[in-house]
Amino acid sequence: MFEAAGWITAPVDMGRACPLFEKGYRFSKPVARAELSVSAVGLYILCVNGVRYALGLLNPGWTNYRKRIQYQSYDVTASVRDFACVSILGAGGWATANLLLEGEHFFSDKVCVIAELRVTYADGTAERFGTDESWAVFRSQVRDSHIYNGEIIDGTAEKERLGNAVRTEVETCLVAQEGVPIREHERLPAKKLIITPEGERVIDFGQNLSGYVEIKVSGRRGERVKLRHAEVLDENGNFYTKNLRTAKQTMEYVLGADGEQILKPLFTTQGFRYIAVDEFPGQIELSRFTSVAVYADMKRTGHFSCGNETINRLYDCIVWTHRSNFMEVPTDCPQRDERLGWLGDAELFCKAAAYSYDVYGFYRKWLHDVASQQLPDGGLRSVCPYNENYPFRCSAAWGDAGVIIPWELYRIYGDKTILEELFDCMRRWVDYMHGAGDEEFLWLGGDHYGDWLALDGPNPREPLTDKDFIGSAFFAYSAKKVVECGKVLGRDVRAYEALYENVRRSFRARYVINGLPATDTMTGCILLLHFDLAEQDEKERIVTHLLELLAKFDNTLCTGLLGTAYILHVLSENGHAKEAYDLLLQKKYPSWLGMLDYGATTIWERFDTIDENGIKDVRNASLNHYVYGTILDWLVEGAVGLRCAFASPGYRRITWKPLPDERLGHAEFAFDTQNGRIECGWQIAGKTVHYRLLLPQTVTAEILLPDGRTRSVTGGENSFTGAI
Ligand code: BGC
Repeated sequence: MFEAAGWITAPVDMGRACPLFEKGYRFSKPVARAELSVSAVGLYILCVNGVRYALGLLNPGWTNYRKRIQYQSYDVTASVRDFACVSILGAGGWATANLLLEGEHFFSDKVCVIAELRVTYADGTAERFGTDESWAVFRSQVRDSHIYNGEIIDGTAEKERLGNAVRTEVETCLVAQEGVPIREHERLPAKKLIITPEGERVIDFGQNLSGYVEIKVSGRRGERVKLRHAEVLDENGNFYTKNLRTAKQTMEYVLGADGEQILKPLFTTQGFRYIAVDEFPGQIELSRFTSVAVYADMKRTGHFSCGNETINRLYDCIVWTHRSNFMEVPTDCPQRDERLGWLGDAELFCKAAAYSYDVYGFYRKWLHDVASQQLPDGGLRSVCPYNENYPFRCSAAWGDAGVIIPWELYRIYGDKTILEELFDCMRRWVDYMHGAGDEEFLWLGGDHYGDWLALDGPNPREPLTDKDFIGSAFFAYSAKKVVECGKVLGRDVRAYEALYENVRRSFRARYVINGLPATDTMTGCILLLHFDLAEQDEKERIVTHLLELLAKFDNTLCTGLLGTAYILHVLSENGHAKEAYDLLLQKKYPSWLGMLDYGATTIWERFDTIDENGIKDVRNASLNHYVYGTILDWLVEGAVGLRCAFASPGYRRITWKPLPDERLGHAEFAFDTQNGRIECGWQIAGKTVHYRLLLPQTVTAEILLPDGRTRSVTGGENSFTGAI
């Protein structure tokens, strides 16, 4: 591949304008087949004789560019005659943007492309043609393109020849497409036109999402369209963009011809529910505007529903937040000047993600990038793809994504490949923790994010739970997972077994005092219980203390990223299903349902991002942040009660432990697993609970009903009744 092609770039500095690379080939013999492979440092749009070829949107995707860049191959035979004009429109995309790096580019200061056309003639001979300095470069109509800021597309601009391409070197490895292509999905009509108190013309689409607005415009050549995108209106009803930080999220078009045409961005997406229409020819008719959701083309595999409409709305918010952040890499948020693959968020959300969509291929590709950027000492930076010019930390709970995500994927999809591929990365991350700090079996003095954004202290960015406690708890947990993975793979993991025992013992000696966590916070209690760092006879005391602390915070959610992910599991697994439901259904601020009262249609970064005084803490005020959507894994595993049996990945054997609650009325989950569709649920009618479990013929279930009855069944439809 790419034997006849080299990387090329524009002969002049183009800033953020998009270069168009072009070359025509004339063939002396009839062409039987033509295949074209293409890639870019940045993004590309490929046309052959005017026909567009694309695997999806935003090709060639986003990887750890330093190590690998994907390419795509297209069968272009249908467009090639005795002549082929190959044109490649390049854009900076993720490669040249200043992702979290003020004033600096993430990977490259220029757009580069590479392409190879392989032609097989009717007489059986073949020839290759590739990008080189004979290609022409033009300034295109895309005058500005930036992943955070949007685009300026001037349809009146003439194609201006800048000269011939320049050969360049790109230090990377070209690899065939591995990720899940990005495509357009839901199309939402405009709901409402609002004239704000400040006089802006704003359209509300009713749903926060990541994507873009498609406009059917009718105007004259030279007329302009300008849209800005935002997630929210402020407390006075004006268009609000401060939480985007420096991201401009603005699309500008100059119409190139008279009459009706469709406009949409080429190389950028926005996170938005509202647009401000600053310029538009003629009247704003809502029917001309459509919000298009853009995300990875994952197959829907899970459906949850229940009898409580507010919880169903929360579930909808979670699924929309998931969609909004699964674009090439699992991002923290899709709107502000960040949109990065934060490992901690991706790890905490991975089960919830898998309960809605098939995310195996999506995560797998990203995990390969995570492994590819592992530091020589085994450290894993908390963002992938990362840039060494930004001080991303090797933080506990974030780096552990390298262990926890492959393990959860293996359990859910039953495919050992992911463990085989990642085992070395997992082991080395545990070795890194082993070597970090002065104490051999604890991780002390690390640079962690901790229980990020917990509302239990004076500053959410400096949460109360002791970071050394968290670091050492995750050290123990990941060491244990390495042992479990190693056993699945038949590796000798005796050293890690001993390490785990030592870490657990040292952890308990330092951090469990009189049966309670040395760090007196909810997250302290939660991690002790969830990571099996407490002894059986300590558990009741810990969970009672957790409930006391919860009561101190008025039974609201003051835990951060880590505590929140596990709190409901810990409560229901330790005999407090009712209290788990109390917290789930809590409306008082901060809480999951409190967000809905303030109009959330996606999950927020902080439970209290908006209150009666408006939007606070603009630094961390994303309104489309999936990490608190981890609650979905409790709805499935706790409320409905479906789990994959420990020793049986891929749902060949399941455990079903439903937790009916009158406040939900009924709850059900349908899940397409590797072993077929499982449907399970419960419904309360009067004083009776009806349980139903539908299994594929080969699947066995161990059932534990709340009244203590147990059953073991294989395949088919199974129903039971019990008292509430
Ligand atoms: C992100 C988080 C992330 C965190 C690290 C934030 O800016 O949005 O979700 O995990 O940084 O603490």
